[in-house]
Amino acid sequence: MATAIAPANIAFIKYWGMRDEASILPYNGSISMNLDTCLTTTTVIFDPLLKDDTITLTLYGQHPHEATGRARERVVTHLDRLRGLAGVTTRANVTSVNTFPSDAGIASSAAAFAALTLAATAALGLNCDERELSRLARRSGSGSASRSIPTGFVEWYNGDDISSFAESIAPPDHWNLADIVAVVDTEAKKIGSAENHLLVTSSPYFDTRMAGIEQRLADTRTAIARRDLTLLGTTMEADAVSMHVVCMTQTPPSFYWNAGTMAVIHAVRSWRDEGLESYFTIDAGPNVHVICADTQRAEVQRRLEALPEVQFTLANGAGQGARLSI
Ligand code: PMV
Repeated sequence: MATAIAPANIAFIKYWGMRDEASILPYNGSISMNLDTCLTTTTVIFDPLLKDDTITLTLYGQHPHEATGRARERVVTHLDRLRGLAGVTTRANVTSVNTFPSDAGIASSAAAFAALTLAATAALGLNCDERELSRLARRSGSGSASRSIPTGFVEWYNGDDISSFAESIAPPDHWNLADIVAVVDTEAKKIGSAENHLLVTSSPYFDTRMAGIEQRLADTRTAIARRDLTLLGTTMEADAVSMHVVCMTQTPPSFYWNAGTMAVIHAVRSWRDEGLESYFTIDAGPNVHVICADTQRAEVQRRLEALPEVQFTLANGAGQGARLSI
């Protein structure tokens, strides 16, 4: 038995497009920040008396429920992979609790699969190092889970099955940044990232996104090393827009943004003109992550909550990676 805690993360440079479906290899490297209050805690107990795996999820504000369908299948497939490594077939009891609403535009699967990977490998006595854990989390199906293993600010390298892992490029206390998520819509997304990762090359703009990605990765590394918010923010916004341009122009297209998304983008840009420096990024949904210096967190949060399109906000600083809990 083992219990692990893992954070969600927000990508400054996005993973968008899978070049190898079997090994979950991306078309490009990506860079993210772990979130300090959006966590998943998972306990895995391997029990020889169990006939089948049981997976119980407790989402924020909801009663515990048994995972079914695709959600269950993804967990069982990942457990099978880890059992295979340990050479056992013992069934497991998995319980997972989230500290954040699953409909708020925060990728809950990254936290969930990072926590599951760490708890299950520990319970199986596999003794994996951080790179191996990150590779295994990558193969869970949610590639961005690889970035929820190392601490703080994290880069996931593009590469082959061995060289595509994530590692920390700076600890969480390196830079007091805040990520305030402006929730404009709590409806579940209709098209998950899994399907869209396979459609990217149908967009005529995908090559343009790829042509600029190495420069944006380099600029993001520099921005983090120098704590340069202007460089981070402008690069991060360009990358998010480029990801969404690919989505909107692939076959069939996906439009994640709604009127609330646009209202937040315009507000953030106009506050910047007034001297309140904050920048937006958007994942596979309509909600907007607004990044600013921690000293501006209260003001940005106050202004976001005053917008009629914003239902509520969630604020985070940079957080640790996955860890075992005693
Ligand atoms: O890791 P996945 O398959 O859940 O995809 C993540 C996709 C984005 O959140 C939009 C981008 C990212 O890099 O986190």
